[in-house]
Amino acid sequence: MQRLLIKGGKPLNGKYRVSGSKNAALPILAATILLPDHSVIKNVPNLLDVITIIRVLRALGLRAEYSQSVPNTVDVWNNSVKHVAPYELVTKMRASFFVIGPILAIKGLAKIPLPGGCAIGSRPVDIHIKGMEALGARVKLEHGFVIAEAKKLKGGRFYLDFPSVGATESVMMAATLAEGETLIENAAKEPEIADLANFLIKAGAQIVGAGTDVIKVSGVKQLRPVEYSIIPDRIEAGTIMAAAAITMGKVMIEGIIPEQLEAVARKLQESGVRIKMAADRVEVDGSGDRFKAVDVKTMPFPGFPTDMQPQIAAFLTLAKGTSVVSETIFENRFMHMHELRRLGADIKLEGQSAIINGVAKLSGAPVKVSDLRAGAALLIAGLAADGETELEDRDHHISRGYENIIEKLRGIGGDVSKAVVHVP
Ligand code: UD1
Repeated sequence: MQRLLIKGGKPLNGKYRVSGSKNAALPILAATILLPDHSVIKNVPNLLDVITIIRVLRALGLRAEYSQSVPNTVDVWNNSVKHVAPYELVTKMRASFFVIGPILAIKGLAKIPLPGGCAIGSRPVDIHIKGMEALGARVKLEHGFVIAEAKKLKGGRFYLDFPSVGATESVMMAATLAEGETLIENAAKEPEIADLANFLIKAGAQIVGAGTDVIKVSGVKQLRPVEYSIIPDRIEAGTIMAAAAITMGKVMIEGIIPEQLEAVARKLQESGVRIKMAADRVEVDGSGDRFKAVDVKTMPFPGFPTDMQPQIAAFLTLAKGTSVVSETIFENRFMHMHELRRLGADIKLEGQSAIINGVAKLSGAPVKVSDLRAGAALLIAGLAADGETELEDRDHHISRGYENIIEKLRGIGGDVSKAVVHVP
């Protein structure tokens, strides 16, 4: 159990450097299953979710560890791969399921536990399964496991019913070693997919179109080991943009890729926040008058990211007027709204929309974290709220996705500390 104490009401100020992307690191580490020998992955954030995927790789027979000498670097040695992924790790983190594609491509057989539901929705894996079938695999469900089998995967045409990020990634990984050409249509376009493709291309895969909605993969016989550096985390950057804005501070966020932040930057600008983008950094200036309400609807990339919905909602609790925040990606991603009310926010929920009437101030209170981005929203709301907010993060959700967040926020003037937990 982790508790964070936040003394809010002070503007954030200074320079902040973004870590490597969690959502790129997870599939790229999963993809090392496809590569022989020793690969080196750099700019990997040191996070609980990354540790979980490293443990999955180890359980599958690979050797994987954070380098002792180079920070944020993971070494992977791959000499043999088992085909069964462990239940406790896949049910702990859904992204562990993404190993199905690479295991199937390498072993001809993959046995992966169904990930089950999670706090933000039921999140089925039917699209992943259809993707494996499109490559010629026979798939069955038995005793809670998805069992996929194909002596040799064969390239095929696969149209995704919904542009799922993970399903696009697992099919793309599997197709790299399939016989012939695979066309992935209505593919997800998130930047993390392009990063995974760039990693695979460096390892010898033939992929064109990653980052667009049609990806063409021409199967190759084998891949080779690589050294690769992960892109920056656009969700961490967006979270800090929202944090600077809500506290009416001024923060220079460094090490970003501007195109990946456009949807978030536009909404903040529309609300009155001053944003200056440069080649690899963005300055967010939230000083001055109160912001205006804006409407936000989550969409697949390049639309507004669902992973930023809780944080923008936190920001809008203090904006003048009425904002409507609509969630279209996950069916149950509003848990933070109830906790934001405890800080004084005026929010009504109507189906998949939250109607937020901006209030003049938030006031600190004890709140509970239900999932990673809900935690981020409560953290930045706490930074803006008067007085003290105590964040109860029973399952260490925030550490799953934000590297060294306490130290990094303190670096820009955030008064955040770990509270001592008394076990009765
Ligand atoms: C990834 C991100 C997550 C982000 C999400 C949406 C990683 C490790 N995680 O998750 O942070 O919130 O994209 O941008 O990259 N769906 C199905 N069937 C499937 C797969 C998905 O119905 O087989 C549904 C899901 O329930 C959800 C929607 O599609 O409603 C989007 O999910 P998806 O894009 O697959 O998310 P993830 O890849 O799990």
